[in-house]
Amino acid sequence: MTQSSVEAVIVAGGFGSRLLPLTARRPKHLLDVGGVPFLEHQIARLAEAGVDHVVLATSYHADQFRPVLGDGSRWGVRIDYVLEEEPLGTGGAIRNVADALGDDPDGAVVILNGDVLSGHDLPAQLEDFRTPRDGQRVDVSLHLVEVEDARAFGCVPTDGAGRVTAFVEKSDAPVTNQVNAGCYVFRRDVIDTIPAGQVVSVERETFPGLVAEGRLVVGFVETAYWRDVGTPAALVGASRDVVLGVAPTPAIGAAEAGARVADGASVHSDQVGGGSVVMKEATVEQGAVVEGSIVMTGAVVEEGARVTDSVVGPWARVGRDAVLQGATLGDEVVVSAGAHVTDERVDVGTTVPAGD
Ligand code: GDD
Ligand code: MG
Repeated sequence: MTQSSVEAVIVAGGFGSRLLPLTARRPKHLLDVGGVPFLEHQIARLAEAGVDHVVLATSYHADQFRPVLGDGSRWGVRIDYVLEEEPLGTGGAIRNVADALGDDPDGAVVILNGDVLSGHDLPAQLEDFRTPRDGQRVDVSLHLVEVEDARAFGCVPTDGAGRVTAFVEKSDAPVTNQVNAGCYVFRRDVIDTIPAGQVVSVERETFPGLVAEGRLVVGFVETAYWRDVGTPAALVGASRDVVLGVAPTPAIGAAEAGARVADGASVHSDQVGGGSVVMKEATVEQGAVVEGSIVMTGAVVEEGARVTDSVVGPWARVGRDAVLQGATLGDEVVVSAGAHVTDERVDVGTTVPAGD
């Protein structure tokens, strides 16, 4: 068993449809969370857990990853990028990167959904994976969490010994509130059992198949901070949690004043807080209030505007005295002076007239 080298795969080729319009021009995995592109949180955490090689399984806007993340040397890891011309699904994506992984059949491969911010103890999950049960080696370990409403997740019941007994993806009548948290450890040779060159869902096909075959799939239940950032509300919530130090991340520290202002941003108001971030080249004018929000690169919040629990997309402009509450503005949106946007998404390039 090689314990010195651990590899990881980040499955990062989804369209991010639930995050539109923010994902119209970029993958969700590169959206700013807490002041850095989301994947930086995951890569820093993998590096901290001893992973030295990370393979990104990309498809949608695949060309944007390398310019942002580079070769991984910033984190002391090596990053390889693998492209799916056509998305192969979560299982197909994992199988498709097999050639980029080492060939020790017993090696541990950590696999992450590329949109989960998690504080769980990955080294402990790896150790659990390496512990045989009744002499049988573990094939796959799944990080599991409890949620109130399991319908949007994969339900994963386990028996008294922690063995996974079923995997039911997104059901209207969840059999348990214990769900797949999107961090797996696969034994390297189990990845080769996924059929190559075709669309495969790891959740709907691979996991149920492994359980039916009697493979040893175990749950690693943890209660640390965990959030899927796949919707605007979750993205802004996760970002706030990073800035306020609620979500521990090795990528970036908590901000001192309840807000993070990037180098090269211009903030002329003293009312930017509640875990907000203001990214580079963005401007917040005097008298504007920004609370619990993300103001992305190049965006402008004009005098007297109020932005709460919202995402102001790149190069968008929030006019004087406009009010945003739970709003998601796509790139280059213009919200006219005095306009109100509540719990709405505004498409890339649209103008919201005054009086709305
Ligand atoms: N490369 C590649 N190719 N990646 C893909 C593809 C594909 O065809 N399809 C999806 N992905 C990536 C997404 O980019 C994301 O990082 C990850 O796979 C999971 O896809 P989501 O679309 O975010 O799935 P989900 O949030 O609805 O459900 C998944 O995550 C839940 C936990 O957050 C499932 O794994 C659930 O079982 C789980 O509970
Ligand atoms: Mg997701």
